[in-house]
Amino acid sequence: MTLLEVKNLTISFGGLRAVDDFNIEIKKGQLYGLIGPNGAGKTTVFNLLTGVYKPDEGIIKLEGRDITGLKTIDINKSGIARTFQNIRLFKELTVLDNVKAGLHNHYHYSTIEGILRLPKYYKVEKEMNERAMELLKVFELDAEADYLASNLPYGKQRKLEIARALATEPKLLLLDEPAAGMNPNETGELMDTIRFVRDQFDMTILLIEHDMKLVSGICEELTVLNFGRILTQGKTGTVLNDPQVITAYLGE
Ligand SMILES: Nc1ncnc2c1ncn2[C@@H]1O[C@H](COP(=O)(O)OP(=O)(O)OP(=O)(O)O)[C@@H](O)[C@H]1O
Ligand SMILES: [Mg+2]
Repeated sequence: MTLLEVKNLTISFGGLRAVDDFNIEIKKGQLYGLIGPNGAGKTTVFNLLTGVYKPDEGIIKLEGRDITGLKTIDINKSGIARTFQNIRLFKELTVLDNVKAGLHNHYHYSTIEGILRLPKYYKVEKEMNERAMELLKVFELDAEADYLASNLPYGKQRKLEIARALATEPKLLLLDEPAAGMNPNETGELMDTIRFVRDQFDMTILLIEHDMKLVSGICEELTVLNFGRILTQGKTGTVLNDPQVITAYLGE
């Protein structure tokens, strides 16, 4: 079943076509990679998919529903969550509270219930704490639940970002260079985590990545962007052996 369908997505900044006629179809449960040299337009695709930018042209459908042009918050509610190329955690909040921030899509109490600490507030807070701890356990971060996010080592901050994104219960998870800045051990662990998230949460994942070991290790299909345009797309093994792709990378 198709989860995400994107047709003819295009955006220009000034005279630059940062993304030009971008098309992709991602099936439910797929682990899909978006690769390409620096400045190719990969993060801009994520910004278009999550409503940070409105496309000049094109259509984005999630489970058949047109979500083109919706606001970021509404796109998140409709089922797309992301992490960022430069980690964006709430650094002054605890690890637990970072995950709880992602849970607010699904757990509600009114302002009055919150201020007056009415029974509903305690009930919802208790449920949120339990759910957040479950997610932290998945990422082996439960022992650090009370730490400030800024005090976690880099690799764990990356994991916490994924946990927070999953707290919004997305259908599609977008990861922007999740292995950036990681050492080989951390990258290996991250690969296991991503596979686990796909299997355990029945998640569909689109990831941008420069680490070819990670890309070839976990992605089933790839789209290669170069200068805002699709160079090629298809099965990972075929794409990575495509001479055009090798040239695009060597010419970087
Ligand atoms: N808000 C913006 N205003 C102007 N130009 C932009 C904007 N956002 C992106 N660009 C330009 O669009 C192009 C694509 O940028 P993008 O960040 O999507 O590349 P990328 O493939 O993610 O690269 P990297 O691998 O370095 O992260 C670049 O030339 C960039 O300078
Ligand atoms: Mg980028």
